[in-house]
Amino acid sequence: MRHFLSIKDFTKDELLEMIELANKIKTQTKRKEFVPYLENQTLGMIFEKSSTRTRVSFETGIYQLGGIGLFLSSNDIQLGRGEPLKDTARVLSRMVDMVMIRTFEQSRLDEFAAYSKVPVINGLSNEYHPVQIMTDYFTLLELGKTNPIVAYIGDGNNITNSWLMLAAKLDLEMRVATPKGYECDSGIVGIALGFANESGAKLSFYNDPDIAVKDADVIITDTWVSMGQESEKEARVKAFTGYMVDNVMMSKAKSDAVFMHCLPAYRGYEVSEEIFEKFEDVVFLEAENRLHMQKGIMVWLDEHR
Ligand code: CP
Ligand code: NVA
Repeated sequence: MRHFLSIKDFTKDELLEMIELANKIKTQTKRKEFVPYLENQTLGMIFEKSSTRTRVSFETGIYQLGGIGLFLSSNDIQLGRGEPLKDTARVLSRMVDMVMIRTFEQSRLDEFAAYSKVPVINGLSNEYHPVQIMTDYFTLLELGKTNPIVAYIGDGNNITNSWLMLAAKLDLEMRVATPKGYECDSGIVGIALGFANESGAKLSFYNDPDIAVKDADVIITDTWVSMGQESEKEARVKAFTGYMVDNVMMSKAKSDAVFMHCLPAYRGYEVSEEIFEKFEDVVFLEAENRLHMQKGIMVWLDEHR
Protein backbone atom coordinates (compact mmCIF):
# COMPACT_ATOMS: atom_id res chain seq x y z
CA MET A 1 0.00 0.00 0.00
CA ARG A 2 1.23 3.50 -0.82
CA HIS A 3 0.45 6.89 0.70
CA PHE A 4 0.59 10.20 -1.21
CA LEU A 5 2.37 12.42 1.31
CA SER A 6 5.07 14.05 -0.83
CA ILE A 7 6.19 14.01 -4.44
CA LYS A 8 9.62 12.95 -3.20
CA ASP A 9 8.28 9.46 -2.42
CA PHE A 10 7.54 8.64 -6.08
CA THR A 11 9.56 7.87 -9.19
CA LYS A 12 9.20 9.87 -12.38
CA ASP A 13 7.36 6.95 -14.00
CA GLU A 14 4.89 6.70 -11.12
CA LEU A 15 4.16 10.44 -11.23
CA LEU A 16 3.62 10.26 -14.98
CA GLU A 17 1.29 7.26 -14.54
CA MET A 18 -0.90 9.33 -12.21
CA ILE A 19 -0.97 12.19 -14.71
CA GLU A 20 -1.87 9.76 -17.50
CA LEU A 21 -4.73 8.40 -15.40
CA ALA A 22 -5.92 11.93 -14.60
CA ASN A 23 -5.89 12.77 -18.29
CA LYS A 24 -7.92 9.66 -19.15
CA ILE A 25 -10.45 10.29 -16.38
CA LYS A 26 -10.76 13.98 -17.31
CA THR A 27 -11.56 13.01 -20.92
CA GLN A 28 -14.17 10.51 -19.70
CA THR A 29 -15.69 13.06 -17.30
CA LYS A 30 -15.94 15.66 -20.07
CA ARG A 31 -17.88 13.08 -22.11
CA LYS A 32 -20.15 12.56 -19.06
CA GLU A 33 -18.79 9.02 -18.68
CA PHE A 34 -18.56 8.55 -14.93
CA VAL A 35 -16.60 5.31 -14.61
CA PRO A 36 -16.99 3.93 -11.06
CA TYR A 37 -13.29 3.24 -10.44
CA LEU A 38 -13.84 3.59 -6.66
CA GLU A 39 -17.37 2.23 -6.40
CA ASN A 40 -18.78 2.29 -2.87
CA GLN A 41 -15.53 3.58 -1.42
CA THR A 42 -15.45 6.24 1.26
CA LEU A 43 -12.87 9.02 1.43
CA GLY A 44 -12.42 10.58 4.87
CA MET A 45 -11.33 14.21 4.54
CA ILE A 46 -9.81 15.72 7.69
CA PHE A 47 -9.35 19.49 7.62
CA GLU A 48 -7.31 21.21 10.33
CA LYS A 49 -7.11 24.35 8.11
CA SER A 50 -9.59 26.15 5.83
CA SER A 51 -10.16 25.16 2.21
CA THR A 52 -12.33 25.87 -0.80
CA ARG A 53 -10.69 23.99 -3.69
CA THR A 54 -9.29 21.01 -1.83
CA ARG A 55 -12.56 20.26 -0.11
CA VAL A 56 -14.79 20.66 -3.15
CA SER A 57 -12.46 18.86 -5.58
CA PHE A 58 -11.92 15.83 -3.36
CA GLU A 59 -15.58 15.56 -2.37
CA THR A 60 -16.80 15.93 -5.95
CA GLY A 61 -13.98 13.73 -7.24
CA ILE A 62 -14.72 10.72 -5.04
CA TYR A 63 -18.43 11.07 -5.86
CA GLN A 64 -17.71 11.06 -9.60
CA LEU A 65 -15.63 7.90 -9.08
CA GLY A 66 -18.61 6.10 -7.52
CA GLY A 67 -17.75 6.73 -3.87
CA ILE A 68 -18.55 9.24 -1.17
CA GLY A 69 -16.53 11.84 0.74
CA LEU A 70 -16.85 12.62 4.44
CA PHE A 71 -15.91 16.17 5.38
CA LEU A 72 -14.34 15.99 8.83
CA SER A 73 -13.44 19.41 10.20
CA SER A 74 -11.12 19.07 13.18
CA ASN A 75 -13.47 21.49 15.00
CA ASP A 76 -16.24 18.93 14.78
CA ILE A 77 -14.49 15.63 15.46
CA GLN A 78 -12.90 14.48 18.73
CA LEU A 79 -9.44 15.17 17.26
CA GLY A 80 -10.10 18.85 17.94
CA ARG A 81 -10.78 18.05 21.62
CA GLY A 82 -7.51 16.19 22.02
CA GLU A 83 -8.17 12.63 20.85
CA PRO A 84 -4.74 11.39 19.73
CA LEU A 85 -4.05 11.46 16.01
CA LYS A 86 -2.90 7.85 16.07
CA ASP A 87 -6.23 6.76 17.59
CA THR A 88 -8.14 8.78 14.99
CA ALA A 89 -6.08 7.02 12.30
CA ARG A 90 -6.82 3.55 13.69
CA VAL A 91 -10.55 4.24 13.97
CA LEU A 92 -11.04 5.93 10.61
CA SER A 93 -8.97 3.46 8.65
CA ARG A 94 -11.23 0.61 9.85
CA MET A 95 -14.23 2.46 8.43
CA VAL A 96 -13.14 4.33 5.33
CA ASP A 97 -11.12 3.30 2.25
CA MET A 98 -8.85 6.32 1.89
CA VAL A 99 -8.07 9.43 3.95
CA MET A 100 -7.09 12.94 2.87
CA ILE A 101 -5.65 15.28 5.49
CA ARG A 102 -4.96 19.01 5.47
CA THR A 103 -2.86 19.84 8.48
CA PHE A 104 0.08 21.72 9.99
CA GLU A 105 3.38 19.83 10.35
CA GLN A 106 4.18 17.12 7.80
CA SER A 107 5.04 14.91 10.80
CA ARG A 108 1.29 14.75 11.57
CA LEU A 109 0.73 13.15 8.16
CA ASP A 110 3.59 10.74 8.76
CA GLU A 111 2.14 9.77 12.12
CA PHE A 112 -1.37 9.29 10.74
CA ALA A 113 -0.02 7.19 7.85
CA ALA A 114 2.01 5.03 10.22
CA TYR A 115 -1.20 3.99 12.01
CA SER A 116 -3.49 3.87 8.97
CA LYS A 117 -4.55 0.67 7.22
CA VAL A 118 -5.66 2.70 4.17
CA PRO A 119 -3.85 5.12 1.81
CA VAL A 120 -3.39 8.65 3.16
CA ILE A 121 -3.22 11.72 0.88
CA ASN A 122 -1.62 15.04 1.80
CA GLY A 123 -4.16 17.80 1.13
CA LEU A 124 -1.58 20.46 2.23
CA SER A 125 0.81 20.66 5.15
CA ASN A 126 3.14 23.43 6.28
CA GLU A 127 5.90 21.79 4.24
CA TYR A 128 4.19 20.43 1.11
CA HIS A 129 1.15 20.69 -1.16
CA PRO A 130 1.77 17.79 -3.57
CA VAL A 131 -1.73 17.43 -5.06
CA GLN A 132 -1.62 21.10 -6.09
CA ILE A 133 1.76 20.81 -7.77
CA MET A 134 0.80 17.63 -9.65
CA THR A 135 -2.18 19.66 -10.87
CA ASP A 136 0.03 22.58 -11.90
CA TYR A 137 2.19 20.30 -14.02
CA PHE A 138 -0.83 18.51 -15.50
CA THR A 139 -2.17 21.94 -16.48
CA LEU A 140 1.12 22.99 -18.07
CA LEU A 141 1.09 19.79 -20.16
CA GLU A 142 -2.44 20.61 -21.31
CA LEU A 143 -1.18 24.05 -22.33
CA GLY A 144 1.51 22.39 -24.45
CA LYS A 145 4.38 23.35 -22.11
CA THR A 146 6.02 19.95 -21.90
CA ASN A 147 9.50 20.99 -20.76
CA PRO A 148 8.91 24.35 -19.10
CA ILE A 149 11.43 26.64 -17.43
CA VAL A 150 9.59 27.38 -14.20
CA ALA A 151 10.15 30.58 -12.21
CA TYR A 152 8.69 30.74 -8.72
CA ILE A 153 8.62 34.23 -7.20
CA GLY A 154 7.72 34.82 -3.57
CA ASP A 155 7.68 32.94 -0.30
CA GLY A 156 9.71 29.75 0.07
CA ASN A 157 6.73 27.73 1.27
CA ASN A 158 4.79 24.47 0.80
CA ILE A 159 4.04 25.31 -2.85
CA THR A 160 7.71 26.05 -3.60
CA ASN A 161 8.89 22.92 -1.80
CA SER A 162 6.53 20.62 -3.70
CA TRP A 163 7.42 22.30 -7.00
CA LEU A 164 11.12 21.74 -6.24
CA MET A 165 10.44 18.03 -5.70
CA LEU A 166 8.45 17.77 -8.93
CA ALA A 167 11.06 19.64 -10.97
CA ALA A 168 13.82 17.50 -9.47
CA LYS A 169 12.01 14.23 -10.21
CA LEU A 170 10.90 15.21 -13.73
CA ASP A 171 14.17 16.80 -14.84
CA LEU A 172 12.87 20.36 -15.28
CA GLU A 173 14.60 23.71 -14.89
CA MET A 174 13.26 25.64 -11.92
CA ARG A 175 14.40 29.01 -10.56
CA VAL A 176 13.22 30.23 -7.17
CA ALA A 177 13.42 33.88 -6.09
CA THR A 178 12.62 34.71 -2.48
CA PRO A 179 13.48 37.67 -0.28
CA LYS A 180 16.35 37.13 2.17
CA GLY A 181 15.04 35.32 5.23
CA TYR A 182 12.13 33.72 3.33
CA GLU A 183 14.09 31.05 1.46
CA CYS A 184 12.95 27.44 1.29
CA ASP A 185 13.89 25.15 4.15
CA SER A 186 17.51 24.09 3.63
CA GLY A 187 16.80 20.45 4.48
CA ILE A 188 14.06 20.27 1.83
CA VAL A 189 16.31 22.03 -0.73
CA GLY A 190 19.02 19.46 0.03
CA ILE A 191 16.63 16.58 -0.68
CA ALA A 192 15.49 18.22 -3.94
CA LEU A 193 19.08 18.85 -5.05
CA GLY A 194 19.87 15.20 -4.40
CA PHE A 195 17.06 14.10 -6.75
CA ALA A 196 18.09 16.78 -9.25
CA ASN A 197 21.61 15.31 -9.35
CA GLU A 198 20.12 11.96 -10.31
CA SER A 199 17.66 13.27 -12.92
CA GLY A 200 19.67 16.13 -14.43
CA ALA A 201 17.15 18.77 -13.31
CA LYS A 202 18.48 22.30 -12.86
CA LEU A 203 17.37 24.04 -9.66
CA SER A 204 18.63 27.52 -8.84
CA PHE A 205 17.94 29.98 -6.05
CA TYR A 206 18.07 33.77 -6.03
CA ASN A 207 17.10 36.83 -4.02
CA ASP A 208 16.45 38.75 -7.25
CA PRO A 209 13.20 38.02 -9.14
CA ASP A 210 14.56 39.59 -12.37
CA ILE A 211 17.21 36.88 -12.77
CA ALA A 212 14.73 34.09 -12.04
CA VAL A 213 12.05 35.19 -14.54
CA LYS A 214 14.39 35.78 -17.49
CA ASP A 215 13.10 33.71 -20.44
CA ALA A 216 10.89 31.58 -18.18
CA ASP A 217 7.90 29.69 -19.64
CA VAL A 218 5.81 30.03 -16.53
CA ILE A 219 5.84 32.38 -13.56
CA ILE A 220 4.29 31.01 -10.41
CA THR A 221 3.59 32.76 -7.15
CA ASP A 222 1.58 32.16 -3.99
CA THR A 223 0.37 34.15 -1.02
CA TRP A 224 3.03 35.83 1.10
CA VAL A 225 1.07 34.87 4.23
CA SER A 226 0.25 31.19 4.42
CA MET A 227 -2.34 29.71 6.75
CA GLY A 228 -0.96 29.89 10.29
CA GLN A 229 1.26 32.94 9.56
CA GLU A 230 -1.43 35.61 9.92
CA SER A 231 0.37 37.35 12.79
CA GLU A 232 3.44 37.88 10.55
CA LYS A 233 1.48 39.70 7.84
CA GLU A 234 2.88 43.18 8.41
CA ALA A 235 6.52 42.07 8.47
CA ARG A 236 6.02 39.83 5.45
CA VAL A 237 4.35 42.48 3.30
CA LYS A 238 7.33 44.73 4.01
CA ALA A 239 9.91 42.02 3.26
CA PHE A 240 8.23 41.08 -0.05
CA THR A 241 8.40 44.57 -1.56
CA GLY A 242 9.38 44.16 -5.21
CA TYR A 243 8.11 40.59 -5.44
CA MET A 244 4.67 41.32 -6.91
CA VAL A 245 4.18 39.58 -10.27
CA ASP A 246 3.10 42.48 -12.48
CA ASN A 247 3.40 43.54 -16.12
CA VAL A 248 7.03 44.58 -15.78
CA MET A 249 8.03 41.24 -14.26
CA MET A 250 5.97 39.22 -16.77
CA SER A 251 7.57 41.11 -19.68
CA LYS A 252 10.98 39.68 -18.73
CA ALA A 253 9.78 36.10 -19.24
CA LYS A 254 9.26 34.49 -22.68
CA SER A 255 6.70 36.32 -24.81
CA ASP A 256 4.28 33.35 -24.56
CA ALA A 257 4.92 32.74 -20.84
CA VAL A 258 1.94 32.06 -18.59
CA PHE A 259 1.18 33.01 -15.01
CA MET A 260 -0.06 30.44 -12.50
CA HIS A 261 -1.41 30.68 -8.96
CA CYS A 262 -2.79 27.90 -6.76
CA LEU A 263 -5.31 30.34 -5.21
CA PRO A 264 -6.55 32.03 -3.14
CA ALA A 265 -4.84 35.07 -4.71
CA TYR A 266 -4.31 38.42 -3.01
CA ARG A 267 -4.22 41.16 -5.64
CA GLY A 268 -1.95 44.06 -4.91
CA TYR A 269 0.34 41.77 -2.92
CA GLU A 270 1.86 38.74 -4.71
CA VAL A 271 0.15 39.54 -8.05
CA SER A 272 -1.26 42.63 -9.71
CA GLU A 273 -4.96 42.71 -10.62
CA GLU A 274 -3.97 43.19 -14.26
CA ILE A 275 -1.76 40.09 -14.52
CA PHE A 276 -4.22 37.97 -12.58
CA GLU A 277 -7.08 38.86 -14.92
CA LYS A 278 -4.89 38.56 -18.02
CA PHE A 279 -4.20 34.92 -17.12
CA GLU A 280 -7.54 34.08 -15.55
CA ASP A 281 -8.15 31.28 -18.08
CA VAL A 282 -4.90 29.59 -17.00
CA VAL A 283 -5.46 30.13 -13.28
CA PHE A 284 -9.02 28.79 -13.29
CA LEU A 285 -8.08 25.83 -15.51
CA GLU A 286 -5.44 25.12 -12.88
CA ALA A 287 -8.17 25.26 -10.21
CA GLU A 288 -10.53 22.99 -12.19
CA ASN A 289 -7.77 20.48 -12.78
CA ARG A 290 -7.53 19.81 -9.04
CA LEU A 291 -10.68 17.74 -9.55
CA HIS A 292 -9.22 15.67 -12.37
CA MET A 293 -5.66 15.27 -11.07
CA GLN A 294 -6.80 14.09 -7.65
CA LYS A 295 -9.08 11.49 -9.24
CA GLY A 296 -5.97 10.18 -11.03
CA ILE A 297 -4.07 10.04 -7.74
CA MET A 298 -6.90 8.29 -5.86
CA VAL A 299 -7.35 5.67 -8.58
CA TRP A 300 -3.58 5.10 -8.75
CA LEU A 301 -3.40 4.58 -4.98
CA ASP A 302 -6.34 2.17 -5.15
CA GLU A 303 -4.57 0.18 -7.88
CA HIS A 304 -1.44 -0.09 -5.71
CA ARG A 305 -2.90 -1.47 -2.50
N1 CP B 1 -5.14 25.83 -3.68
C1 CP B 1 -5.78 25.31 -2.62
O1 CP B 1 -5.36 24.29 -2.04
O2 CP B 1 -6.93 25.94 -2.29
P1 CP B 1 -7.82 25.73 -0.98
O3 CP B 1 -7.02 26.25 0.18
O4 CP B 1 -9.06 26.52 -1.22
O5 CP B 1 -8.10 24.27 -0.81
N1 NVA C 1 0.87 28.50 0.88
C1 NVA C 1 -0.56 28.56 1.06
C2 NVA C 1 -1.26 27.69 0.06
C3 NVA C 1 -2.75 27.76 0.12
C4 NVA C 1 -3.41 26.81 -0.83
C5 NVA C 1 -0.92 28.16 2.48
O1 NVA C 1 -0.32 27.20 3.00
O2 NVA C 1 -1.76 28.81 3.08
